[in-house]
Amino acid sequence: MKEIIVSGMRPTGRLHIGHYHGVLKNWVRLQDQGECYFFVADWHALTTHYESVEGISTAVWDMLVEWLAVGIDPDKAVLFIQSHVPQHAELALLLGMLTPLSWLERVPTFKDQQEKLRERDLATFGFLGYPLLMTADILLYEAQQVPVGADQVAHLEISRELARRFNSFYGRDAETRQQIEKGLQAMGKRAVKTFTQLQQRFQQNGDLLAVSEAAEFLRQQSGLSPLMQAQLLAHLEGKGREILREPQALLTAASKLPGLDGQKMSKSYGNTIPLQEDPELIRKKIRTMPTDPARVMRTDPGTPEKCPVWGFHQVYSNEETRNWVRQGCTSAGIGCLDCKQPVIEAVLAELAPIRERAEYWAARPAQLREIAHAGAQRARNRAEPTMEKVRSAMGLAHEQGFD
Ligand code: TRP
Ligand code: SF4
Repeated sequence: MKEIIVSGMRPTGRLHIGHYHGVLKNWVRLQDQGECYFFVADWHALTTHYESVEGISTAVWDMLVEWLAVGIDPDKAVLFIQSHVPQHAELALLLGMLTPLSWLERVPTFKDQQEKLRERDLATFGFLGYPLLMTADILLYEAQQVPVGADQVAHLEISRELARRFNSFYGRDAETRQQIEKGLQAMGKRAVKTFTQLQQRFQQNGDLLAVSEAAEFLRQQSGLSPLMQAQLLAHLEGKGREILREPQALLTAASKLPGLDGQKMSKSYGNTIPLQEDPELIRKKIRTMPTDPARVMRTDPGTPEKCPVWGFHQVYSNEETRNWVRQGCTSAGIGCLDCKQPVIEAVLAELAPIRERAEYWAARPAQLREIAHAGAQRARNRAEPTMEKVRSAMGLAHEQGFD
């Protein structure tokens, strides 16, 4: 059985080589290993860009074109557009019923992004609920692995907690629930309060110590059978029958590739090379990259570690070339333009076939739509059985009769 892998990307404009070396090459590798669902997260784009929706459709199709261009293969992975699969919205709505506000409010990116994107009003329900939508994206497919960058790990933690919370509410039969109720009654009010605090420490803060403390605490309660103690401990840990599967973060290694100016490569810094960049512009951008400021004159030696071009050599050059750079830079044996030449060649060689394939797909919108629609159909087929379980767990399987 292949592992289920789910990941999404917000359609926020053209992709660049930073995306390629950070995320996309990883996806291309994963599509051979797991059952992959990769989607364009257009609803997510609206959580921050609800006021300016003009570019979204273009960005969605551009993104699919570029995914195909880098080698993501619709015969291997399920490629789709999030809003083509309404189950994402339905699950997000239902999960919202049991999501404590505090879980969303304490996500670090919530306050950070509000600060960073000051020009937009992000005091909205949609923006606060972003991790909830992301949780739905993941749990819908019963994903085991979710490749994400470090900035998304906190969101994934919420997904895990929500799956657990859901299972602890609905993953139990009536009989077990009754027994837990009885056990709590037998403990008395004060003890229940302590127990609840330990439960919160574990379920909300992931504090493992709280579990061992609770085990000891339950042992000390007179009148609780060992079976009852075990049941209460499972209750504390949120263990019920697993209805929604708890996913794992598959941390994508940070890309070694810096931006042209040495900062992180990002569209907002204007230091990127887009995947479909014009070759002449690529040459120019690399030729004008800043280098180690110590190399004022051609005869001044430099230190590769202080130079963003060195970061490019890490990604694009073999050891031989890197030795040539180190040797030539530290001895002033080569000039910076000499040093940049192999990088220019390598970037051009990498992007030429990608640009060609992107042009191919961009010229075939009907075929592109077909791929997206077939992907959405497959995604819905995978998502619907999960929704059936969820609806029935949450008391919504009305066709099946009266409660
Ligand atoms: N939040 C992710 C980002 O901004 C994109 C995303 C949306 C995602 N849903 C997801 C990633 C589900 C992984 C799984 O990068
Ligand atoms: Fe940077 Fe290369 Fe110039 Fe050294 S020689 S400063 S590594 S561009």
